Amino acid sequence: MAEKLPETSSTTIIQGRAGQEEIPRASKAPMAESSSAGPPTAASKSAGAPDSQLPAPERKGHRQYVRFTRLHRLQHAGMIISFMSLALTGLSLKFSYTPWAAVLSRLLGGFQTAGYIHRAAAVLMLGIFFVHLGDLLRLRRREYRSWRALLTGPDTMIPTAKDLADLAATLKWFLGLGRRPDYGRWTYWEKFDYFAVFWGIAIIGSTGLTLWFPVFFTRFLPGWFINVATVIHSDEALLATGFIFTVHFFNTHLRPEKFPMDITIFTGRMPLAELKRDKPLEYQAMVTSGALDDRLEEAYPQVVVRVIRAFAWTALSVGFGIVLWIVYAMLFAYR
Ligand code: HEM
Repeated sequence: MAEKLPETSSTTIIQGRAGQEEIPRASKAPMAESSSAGPPTAASKSAGAPDSQLPAPERKGHRQYVRFTRLHRLQHAGMIISFMSLALTGLSLKFSYTPWAAVLSRLLGGFQTAGYIHRAAAVLMLGIFFVHLGDLLRLRRREYRSWRALLTGPDTMIPTAKDLADLAATLKWFLGLGRRPDYGRWTYWEKFDYFAVFWGIAIIGSTGLTLWFPVFFTRFLPGWFINVATVIHSDEALLATGFIFTVHFFNTHLRPEKFPMDITIFTGRMPLAELKRDKPLEYQAMVTSGALDDRLEEAYPQVVVRVIRAFAWTALSVGFGIVLWIVYAMLFAYR
């Protein structure tokens, strides 16, 4: 483990290797896609706000740590679009007796069209799921060589004894009885969110396909299984929307360190100072392996960040709106 590096404020550029005070804009990072932000020219500098007035993470010429690849970001954006569409159309069927559902389905073109949108979004979600499985196979072949190395390495998504210790230490920290634990590449709550979605898709997807193609599935399953699949699909949908739009939103965006929004999954990048504070072990591993410099890319320009924020705020608002609708339907209109 690397020796602990001194804390720096988010307005300073942090050393990548010993003795390097500032990280200059340098050659392209091999694993990171090229940024649309070019080097700051005299013209671009005079056209925009002066650097000193911009928030540190978005200042031109500052490089940020690339935490997510382009594929990760595309998958997450696709997952948001498909999940929101599935939740809105699915819940408009489930709560069809509420005035909300009538308004929504009219906006979507009627209940039948909502059903078509539901199926199209399901194809997108299942497509993302299989792309992810393919990506895991690629990762095993190219970077880890064996499943054992992938599943038991330091960056594993499988919960470990350290995650249990981190959970206990975090609870102590919440109670003021200890300090914030040093998290690594994936925290215990990120692993929990990952598996909630992973198994959630397997369950909701398989039951959804049963509802979509009942004739095919009842060739080898009993007829009553269609009823069971409807109950599982419908209740798992409620669990999934409730979980994503409350627990996942809180863990990711609403906890004090990130409030009101963390856009790392959209930009793929995060300020180095934030990485040091949030995931000190990931930072130290990068410094120790000498890979840090290769993982630095220029921050996106302000205009891109604004578009991303608008998308993210829309998703957050729709998500919270759906939670309110579910609560209303369950408390005042449930049949
Ligand atoms: C990913 C694969 C999925 C497939 C293949 C799928 C398929 C289906 C199908 C065929 C129906 C019946 C629709 C109709 O009668 O026109 C349905 C209903 C429904 N779906 Fe999905 N779906 C999927 C994912 C989801 C997700 C992610 C959610 C919510 C987050 C969801 C929520 C619902 C709800 C609430 C219903 C209504 C159930 C009821 O009548 O109580 N579905 N789904």
